[in-house]
Amino acid sequence: MTEFRLDAGSGDLAQTIAVTTSGGIPEVIWWGPALPEGEDLAELAASVRNDLTGGMLDRLPALSLCPEAGRAFQGQAGLVLSAEDGAPMLPVFSFERAEEDDTLLRLVSVAEGLRLTHELRAYPTGVIGLRTVLDAKRPVRLHWLAAPVLPAPQDGDIIDVHGKWTREFHLNRVAWTPGIRLREARTGRSGHEHPPYVILAGRGATNSAGEARALHYGWSGGHRMVAEELPDGRRQVQFGHAWGAETAPGMRFETAELLAVSSRAGLNGIGAAFQRDIRDRVVTWPDPARARPVHYNCWEAIYFNHNLADLAAIADRAAEMGAERFVLDDGWFGRRDDDTTSLGDWTVDQRKWPDGLHPLIAHVHKLGMTFGLWFEPEMVNPDSDLMRAHPDWMLGPADQVAGRNQMVLDLSKPEVREYLFNAVSEILAEYPIDYIKWDHNRLLPVVDAAQTRGIYELLASLRKAHPAVEIESCASGGGRIDAGILSHTHRVWLSDSNDALERLRMQHDAALFLPAAITGSHVGPRKSHTSGRVLPMSFRAWVAAQRHFGFEMDLRELKGEEAATLKSVTAWWKANRGWMLGGTIHRIDSDDPAVVAEVQMAADGGRFVLFAGQGETSVQILPRPLRLIGLEPEARYRLRLVNPEDAPRQSRGPNALKSGELTLTGRALMQRGVLLPVAWPVTIWVVEGERV
Ligand code: GLA
Repeated sequence: MTEFRLDAGSGDLAQTIAVTTSGGIPEVIWWGPALPEGEDLAELAASVRNDLTGGMLDRLPALSLCPEAGRAFQGQAGLVLSAEDGAPMLPVFSFERAEEDDTLLRLVSVAEGLRLTHELRAYPTGVIGLRTVLDAKRPVRLHWLAAPVLPAPQDGDIIDVHGKWTREFHLNRVAWTPGIRLREARTGRSGHEHPPYVILAGRGATNSAGEARALHYGWSGGHRMVAEELPDGRRQVQFGHAWGAETAPGMRFETAELLAVSSRAGLNGIGAAFQRDIRDRVVTWPDPARARPVHYNCWEAIYFNHNLADLAAIADRAAEMGAERFVLDDGWFGRRDDDTTSLGDWTVDQRKWPDGLHPLIAHVHKLGMTFGLWFEPEMVNPDSDLMRAHPDWMLGPADQVAGRNQMVLDLSKPEVREYLFNAVSEILAEYPIDYIKWDHNRLLPVVDAAQTRGIYELLASLRKAHPAVEIESCASGGGRIDAGILSHTHRVWLSDSNDALERLRMQHDAALFLPAAITGSHVGPRKSHTSGRVLPMSFRAWVAAQRHFGFEMDLRELKGEEAATLKSVTAWWKANRGWMLGGTIHRIDSDDPAVVAEVQMAADGGRFVLFAGQGETSVQILPRPLRLIGLEPEARYRLRLVNPEDAPRQSRGPNALKSGELTLTGRALMQRGVLLPVAWPVTIWVVEGERV
């Protein structure tokens, strides 16, 4: 027997993965909170060896980093492949060697003509990245390759994520049962439907307490997750590209990186680890010191009706409200008057913009804002010059059904990537643009990993050629949010819903995986364009201020009081973004289901802000105290209500925060909690805390 371990992270987020091998592919004997340094791994390996009984083979097939069908593993195998002629292969691997240093463990196993490499990498952010590579001496057909397979704990639940257009990031919490829980994104995107995240919550784990482990598969082309409880009771979790995503025979295949975290501080530990990893490692910022600018996006203001006079007037209002970046959305190119035409023809529409975009950009610059532009490069409308010239550039069968009237370009073709590189580059060369909203608005007609590799390559070459340009990943809102796309981009458009009530919940749940700094959130129109709800400005503004703040509405609709509120929330956000966006979002276990609340804590622990959103009317008359989280128990904090003006007329009691500051210890604030004034539905209390 030979054992190895890899450690990452510190404190409550310190984790260890330990493996053993007795000659075959290594198997994980520990994944969870860090093991003591002195743990005897040989003893640990011995301790997990199982007994046998009736109804079993005479040796238990290992739940290894790649469970093997060739060894009669009873559950889902980690590798399914066939020879080039289609004959199934059932290789049996033996362990060959390990390479290791403090941050990397590479485990190599071999079988006839095949080599399987499992890489475990410890990142400074505390995350462990797991990747599998398969090399073959002769071309083979790959159906399924799992990233290094981990055993799941025997207690607790599975929390995974589902969603749909305008309602992203909904959490499912389900019990383990014998058999398989399968989540597969077969739409060519990581998707609204099955985002590639899972949390294995220990028994009773809450936001603030308990043990949890979590995985995030960093791939944008659609993935498959198998969470399986075997007949013998062992549990495994596998992640890989969607089944059959490798469509051509090949001699080398690799999975995307599977990011693993472990927390002894409840689900918030998972959130803290992923938030930090995405912000500080996965995303590569052109200028990390540059503050996240207040966005303005014109989509819900004018849709396709571009004209200089309107946009200039809106830009004036945006600048007056405090915007720092003005984004021209869909409608500026080809003859794009609606969504039936012109995707692929990335030249400025001379009818709408006779002098090009220069007059608008000059106006925007004069107002002190930078300029951003919308593209959807992977797509093409049948009614476009591009499609007429290159019908063979389309991905998938000729007779496929369109999606939003559009087809997909085959990004595995170098000539397609070259065309798109040049098309986008020409615009970036002609105009001073510091930001691209990169959209992707249809489900793909086929699942093909080559398409995803193609888009990564295109983005990488554009980034290289235009290093100062930031990119936002949008896919009808949150249809492509994963660490794969985020290693090429800097922001995600979480949802096409600018309804602040929907956003409040979505943002809160997405915070388990995404930091505030990359999560776009905009103040939408008074009457939401995706739900019809009419919401007060204060609520809309404060919900957006919880993340990367912006506006997306016709600002000419603002009444005096609304404008004043928006201006003041914007000013507050600008004054606080410096520490807020580098901090951590902790989700509060609210004792009132009508209240969604979170603490955003500065990285140095010196200050925080509490957002308590009242979604609906509470059952009880008076607010329940909100027990804060992430504070130092012994430290003292001074609390100040930022928006007392939002108190409803019926608030007539002596709540302390309404009339002044309060100074309490972290213990008191975490144990008993903060008592807020009564609140109307669709209002938010915002409380600043400072360590004294
Ligand atoms: C998608 C995006 C929107 C907007 C439109 C433009 O739906 O999610 O934000 O950019 O495309 O067509």
